[in-house]
Amino acid sequence: MNLILFGPPGAGKGTQSALLIERLGMRQISTGDLFRAAIKNQTKLGQEAKGYLDAGKLVPDSITIGLVEEVLLDLNGKSFILDGFPRNVTQAEALEQLLKALKLKVDKSVFLEVPMSMLLGRLTGRRVCKNCGTTYHIESKPTHKEGVCDVCGGPVIQRPDDKEDVIRTRLETYENSTRPLKDYYKAKGPYVEIDGTGTSEQVFERITRAIQVKA
Ligand code: AP5
Repeated sequence: MNLILFGPPGAGKGTQSALLIERLGMRQISTGDLFRAAIKNQTKLGQEAKGYLDAGKLVPDSITIGLVEEVLLDLNGKSFILDGFPRNVTQAEALEQLLKALKLKVDKSVFLEVPMSMLLGRLTGRRVCKNCGTTYHIESKPTHKEGVCDVCGGPVIQRPDDKEDVIRTRLETYENSTRPLKDYYKAKGPYVEIDGTGTSEQVFERITRAIQVKA
């Protein structure tokens, strides 16, 4: 089962991908995580991407598509979830070509719908472990000990792009570039829209029901 999981910033794509990989053994392909890892490791890709992430803007398509191609080539038959890619119609068309060339297909595109009014609170309250990347929220999923990761004991920080002014740019970028993908994937099918409100477990149950797998 190969999936595209898309939706606005803070919709819960990372949270749901983590549950899907933990319980169904799929491989997550998160372009955001890949860019952040490259920035942390100070690679050439990281240097190219940093300014865009800090500003809440999309990394140029040529860089992003090349990165996804490398990961798809390295799947070794494992099922995948694309989290945060594609993010505009150009990327969606490039993905289609890549999948065709690699004889792969996406079984379902899953759109996570969360009202704009909830997104700001989810994003400003998000905290992440600097070491292992586990995601928390100061209200809905706090760490047991403040500032310390429950999983690895690493420092838990706020993502630099989770500051309010950058979030506003990310939401704008989403509206202009990514939201149009809803119509694109609706027309292509199979496509499903999932209510992303409620607890993470409730959302996960809706997704697994919609993709017809038992978790
Ligand atoms: P990326 O990392 O993909 O950011 P994003 O799309 O903005 O998504 P987020 O990671 O912010 O949110 P999420 O939906 O994963 O939510 P989460 O599960 O963490 O991209 C970052 C940047 O990289 C982009 O701005 C761009 O610069 C670049 N980039 C990435 N992909 C690119 C591409 N394809 N092309 C070009 N550039 C690209 O949840 C958020 C919070 O809410 C957490 O605290 C969580 O605990 C909480 N939460 C989750 N679910 C629930 C729930 N059900 N109830 C209550 N709280 C919840």
